[in-house]
Amino acid sequence: MNMLVACAEKFTINGAFRLENHNNSPNCMINGILKRYKEYLPITGDTPIFTIGEGDTPLVESANISDSIGCASLHFKLEGCNPTGSFKDRGMVVAVAKALERGVKSIACASTGNTSASAAAYGAYCGLKTTLIVPKGNVARGKLAQAVAYGAHIAMVDGSFDKALEIARELCLKHPIELVNSVNPNRIEGQKTAAFEIVEDLGDAPDHLFIPVGNAGNIVAYWKGFVESRRREDCNKLPILNGYQAEGAAPIVTGKPVDFPETVASAIRIGNPASWAKAVSARDESGGIIGSVTDDEILAAYRLLASKEGVFCEPASAASVAGLLKQAKSGIDFSGKKIVCVLTGNGLKDPDIANEIEPTSIGEYAAELESVEEALSLA
Ligand code: F0G
Repeated sequence: MNMLVACAEKFTINGAFRLENHNNSPNCMINGILKRYKEYLPITGDTPIFTIGEGDTPLVESANISDSIGCASLHFKLEGCNPTGSFKDRGMVVAVAKALERGVKSIACASTGNTSASAAAYGAYCGLKTTLIVPKGNVARGKLAQAVAYGAHIAMVDGSFDKALEIARELCLKHPIELVNSVNPNRIEGQKTAAFEIVEDLGDAPDHLFIPVGNAGNIVAYWKGFVESRRREDCNKLPILNGYQAEGAAPIVTGKPVDFPETVASAIRIGNPASWAKAVSARDESGGIIGSVTDDEILAAYRLLASKEGVFCEPASAASVAGLLKQAKSGIDFSGKKIVCVLTGNGLKDPDIANEIEPTSIGEYAAELESVEEALSLA
């Protein structure tokens, strides 16, 4: 009998799944979002507490890019270090725990890839049937491979993410299936914990937060997290939010939905964000902006992060840094400012884009010391 089944039987109450204390064994080194931030999340005595290692991601100080920005400090929040390689895990663990609490047996989402990988992983861990509705041909290869490996049911539809979300919403209204997209408020609750971690690590909120925007849930979640931290007096200020969409998928910037969104950053190829209005409110309350960056700017930032900072993120994530570089180039003075860029997903998710990077030096040599020395110009 596997540990989860044993655990599920032990903690089944009224037919509902309970995983309480599942990760309390002395050998377990990780706390996870549910346990660590229990008092700030919608958790009751009946909510199962479990983790597959989400949260507690590194806030890494920039080694080389910060000089060109002229700021006091620049940090990268590495959300690609979450168990499925993206920030989605923070929200997914809360959404799935709350669904289990109500006895739900089946979850579904629409996705550009990361939400689906995350839902599939937590669904697998908790023994739930997981259905993913994804835009055919528009999900990065690594993300699809994850969903397949986790054993999810995958429906590839001939349409955009926006259409897939419409279908997912209808599906979950019609059937007893929990929708785990970020329109589910429990997803936002979990994702706000990234802001808590930044405040803990910096000892205050940063002056500026740069973040990619797609369906617009994450920018709303960060704002909620910072506002709550401020209310608790964990920080003395609130950051200015700088959200960035890709130019070919920038409905919030242009003010109208985009029927055929197009960008190399497939994660944020979204034409009609579900959390549009809330993102605009967060932006305005923070005194910030939601702008756009071109695919060339995204790819330049993507390469720069890997080659100058040792951070390999996916293209959508690099939109945050592309936005910062764009602002610095336009002459905005960041002197004295503390800046955090959120890097939302791991670069390995999208191997096809990674393979387009021109290698600095690559060649085939005989398997002898001399030939490798020759390659290194040491001969
Ligand atoms: N970065 C990455 C890597 C993402 O996967 C997403 C969204 C975003 C940024 C934007 O976040 O939607 O909260 O504004 N991905 C969703 C998905 C849409 O289906 O995986 P957002």
